[in-house]
Amino acid sequence: MANTVIIGAQWGDEGKGKIVDMLSASSDVIVRFQGGNNAGHTIEANGKQTILHTIPSGILHPGKLCLIGNGVVLDPFVFLKEVDGLNENGIDTSPRRLGISYKTHLIMPYHVALDKAREAYKAGSKIGTTGRGIGPCYEDKVGRVGLRAGDLTNPDLASRKIAAALVEKNFLLKNLYGSEPLDAKTITDQVMAIAPRITPYLTDVSGAVQESVLIGKDVLWEGAQGVHLDVDHGTYPYVTSSNTVSGCGSTGTGIGPNYLQQVLGIAKAYTTRVGAGPFPTELDDKTGAFLREQGHEFGATTGRPRRCGWLDAVVLRESARLCGLTQFALTKIDVLRNLPILKICVDYMYKGHRIEYPPQGENALAEVTPVYEELPGFTEDISHCKHMEALPYNVQKYIQRIEALTQVRIAYVSVGPDRDQTIIC
Ligand code: IMP
Ligand code: MG
Repeated sequence: MANTVIIGAQWGDEGKGKIVDMLSASSDVIVRFQGGNNAGHTIEANGKQTILHTIPSGILHPGKLCLIGNGVVLDPFVFLKEVDGLNENGIDTSPRRLGISYKTHLIMPYHVALDKAREAYKAGSKIGTTGRGIGPCYEDKVGRVGLRAGDLTNPDLASRKIAAALVEKNFLLKNLYGSEPLDAKTITDQVMAIAPRITPYLTDVSGAVQESVLIGKDVLWEGAQGVHLDVDHGTYPYVTSSNTVSGCGSTGTGIGPNYLQQVLGIAKAYTTRVGAGPFPTELDDKTGAFLREQGHEFGATTGRPRRCGWLDAVVLRESARLCGLTQFALTKIDVLRNLPILKICVDYMYKGHRIEYPPQGENALAEVTPVYEELPGFTEDISHCKHMEALPYNVQKYIQRIEALTQVRIAYVSVGPDRDQTIIC
């Protein structure tokens, strides 16, 4: 397989974990390039479910090299918990096959505390973050005061950074948010206690990826969240704090963009969103409830019920443009079974005009009305279909319509959660 960046083409939870897991079989290196443990990548293989938040999904495949790039924010405590969980299941997580960039920023307990305190404080204008400290950690990175994984080799530097950070964080926690301040020494001790377990994983990720590419190995960049949660291009301010577009595969691992050969967008056959923010095709009715039930649309990270709605081709078209998508993987199409009609949003109406791309202004997406096209539904069980021709006519039509509306080829169709419930088109 060629070097491939995998991104979520909607608002996250498109089923990236499953597709990354599947494509890991034919890749050599799997690298995460943005986001943190706000992600929840669910993988089902041989009847067993694994949810990964931090470690690349490729870890389930023996012998593959899994890397965490500089663009990721890593909670070291969560990382070690995940390592322990994988080890209990007999999965090799040794530094021979798992690496963390020296430059990866670390999520500290004060980032988590700030994330939660801030959300609680924002009555009425909550973003609905996952409360994992993602935003505050990226703020410190951009503010040039962050603690990086490589700093764990230098206890003096690490403890100075933690103490300095807490001067500001505690002021905010105490005086603005009315919550408990945190103790610098306690946090430093907790961090230094786990440092010996983290430092063996430190790797020059840029160098490792470059070397792999040059000797002809295949690299998979595993994106998290979705394009419309991108801090620049998403539905700002209802977004995450990282760039989720494909270009971040380059900046988030330290490799030239010319090495990213294919860009695979993962799109669910309908749309979901967790947290606040505009969602033009959202269904607040029994069809929305049907999708949530049939699709088990509850957050893998927070357990929150996901908002559900029809497929939005405008959202996908925009993702294709922002990421240079070369192909789609369409997931969870089996969930649509037994709906008499299937609607696809093909364009928006905005201020009296019909538009093909989302409007540009902040929160302007909240003002659009979807223009729907209706397609006939299907009642057949498609979960065992192994090739396109085996799919009912109406399912094939639905797939073809998405390709026509987005001008992107659908290369994979997922008809169930398991690894082998995937049609390669
Ligand atoms: P944060 O990334 O925790 O700061 O949350 C910001 C927004 O992104 C919230 O609306 C979250 O629900 C959403 N979000 C973050 N990570 C994911 C994900 O992996 N899947 C879906 N939504 C996410
Ligand atoms: Mg998820």
